Amino acid sequence: MASIPEQLSGSLGAAFEAVGLPRELGLVAESDRPDLAPYQCNGAMAAAKIAKKAPRAVAEQVAAEFQAREPDVAIEIAGPGFLNLTPSATVYAQRANAIAADPRTGAARVEMPRTVMIDFGGPNVAKPMHVGHLRSSVIGDSLQRLFRFRGDRVISDIHLGDWGYQMGLLVTELEDEQPGLAYFDESFTGPYPDAPPVTIDDLSRLYPQAAAKAKEDEERAARARKATAELQAGRPGYRALLQHFINVSIAALKADFDALGVHFDLWKGESDVNDLVPEVVELFKEKGIAEESEGALIVRVAEEGEKKELAPLILVSRQGSALYATTDLATILDRRRTYDPDLILYVVDLGQSDHFEQVFRAAVKAGLAQEGGLEHIKFGTVNGPDGKRLRTRAGGTFRLADLIGEAYGRAKARLDEAGLGAELSEAEHDRVARLVANAAIKFADLQNFRTTNYIFELDRFVSFEGKTGPYLLYQAVRVKSIMRKAADQGLEPGPILAGTPEEQALIRRLDGFEAALARACDLRAPNHLCDHAFSLAQAFSAFYAACPILPEENEAVRASRLALAETVLKQLELNLALIGLEAPEKM
Ligand code: ARG
Repeated sequence: MASIPEQLSGSLGAAFEAVGLPRELGLVAESDRPDLAPYQCNGAMAAAKIAKKAPRAVAEQVAAEFQAREPDVAIEIAGPGFLNLTPSATVYAQRANAIAADPRTGAARVEMPRTVMIDFGGPNVAKPMHVGHLRSSVIGDSLQRLFRFRGDRVISDIHLGDWGYQMGLLVTELEDEQPGLAYFDESFTGPYPDAPPVTIDDLSRLYPQAAAKAKEDEERAARARKATAELQAGRPGYRALLQHFINVSIAALKADFDALGVHFDLWKGESDVNDLVPEVVELFKEKGIAEESEGALIVRVAEEGEKKELAPLILVSRQGSALYATTDLATILDRRRTYDPDLILYVVDLGQSDHFEQVFRAAVKAGLAQEGGLEHIKFGTVNGPDGKRLRTRAGGTFRLADLIGEAYGRAKARLDEAGLGAELSEAEHDRVARLVANAAIKFADLQNFRTTNYIFELDRFVSFEGKTGPYLLYQAVRVKSIMRKAADQGLEPGPILAGTPEEQALIRRLDGFEAALARACDLRAPNHLCDHAFSLAQAFSAFYAACPILPEENEAVRASRLALAETVLKQLELNLALIGLEAPEKM
């Protein structure tokens, strides 16, 4: 069944057509003057120009045609010729009952499912994750949930940074600390011990240590670069070490991402496509799109007359190594062979715009991808209260685990302050605090359009009031508690009647779900999911304040309201799941 605006657009379009005007003029949307009518159409203005008549005259004709088709919808002409539409309770009730009967509460499936790969997260082995990786993870996870829910085949890939200079730094730093390890013996080719020679804490210590030294000392940096090149060339001891580093990092990252409720289908990384690099380089040479420049192999991607000239992409560096762009191109080849995606989305911060522009143009030139088949899903920064990029008190980048830990602490405190969850067992209380913490962090991030920078204010994020994740969880829990009480009293939901303005307003929100999903999907913009969830929760609150549910004496009205509440809960939970939020049973 079509949504109410679609139904109205259909009938109004037919009315325009009946007076010899284009159907499309009958497009109906929710009104921006809800005090006059909930729906409106502005088509009479454009129609007047076509028909060379006064807008009001056209509007009157169209309104008469419409009324004959839709006796259940009041139509009025306002101002110069706005068509204001007010559906009767019957229209609302029919739509609400269809939504209630649908397990997807009105959410459609895409007609032509695509294979969509989503590249997000992108942490680097050994380097701590920072808030940029957090944003990528939160946005990417929401997009994968959304695309999957709408029926596309989705494959998500974390695309670990495990192949660059930082690996050379790590290898050489470990060599300085433990020169006796078999991995550093050039003549030894294995087998190497199964047990990793380092823990995640070693890695977190070794990397900054090495990075600091290399910054000061060019010789130290040169050793790291040499080790990187040897590693990429396949030196056995280094490769064995790399694998350990990757395994140790993945184990730690999985724990972090599990805590955040973020899942990846593939845990591949830059190092996985190393074997494809020669083939990619060959392809570019063969097609004559790569050229030598100062000892490096580059691809020119700038186009004539562009405002800002894009630098060439470096395919092979002067030292003979593959760089970030090279592994990204090899990854496209790998993905094509393995999954043949229609679309690859790269959820990566705005700062990497040039990199992706270079890679995409080069990939299209080489025939590795189709125009429009690769998209950079950009996002802005998370800032501290000073408006600058968020740092820890010590000035370093934030670590994901610390951030989650802090949010959890605040969520726990806020629950106590609000007197919530007091009757829960300790384990339950703990779980609720984790859900609230995740909801706080994720919602705060997703509610803005992704390119907007925002200030990290945990206290506001964990609040149960305002437009926050915890507020939404609280509303969902409230409806769950109503449903539980109703079940205890043996009350059953029944057909929805939609007699009051608050019920109708709530039904309009329920009815807007599919449009919100489509918009979020088309714009790759989860903020539309957040807006929908928030407006649904608010409409529920207004409904609940005006329309008693359990105390209602009229049995049919009570059953109707119970059914509405049940449908709201179903849709709210579907919606929350798409932004990666989960409401507890109680709190
Ligand atoms: N590891 C990169 C970074 O930390 C992000 C990777 C993004 N994905 C990609 N295919 N380049 O900046």
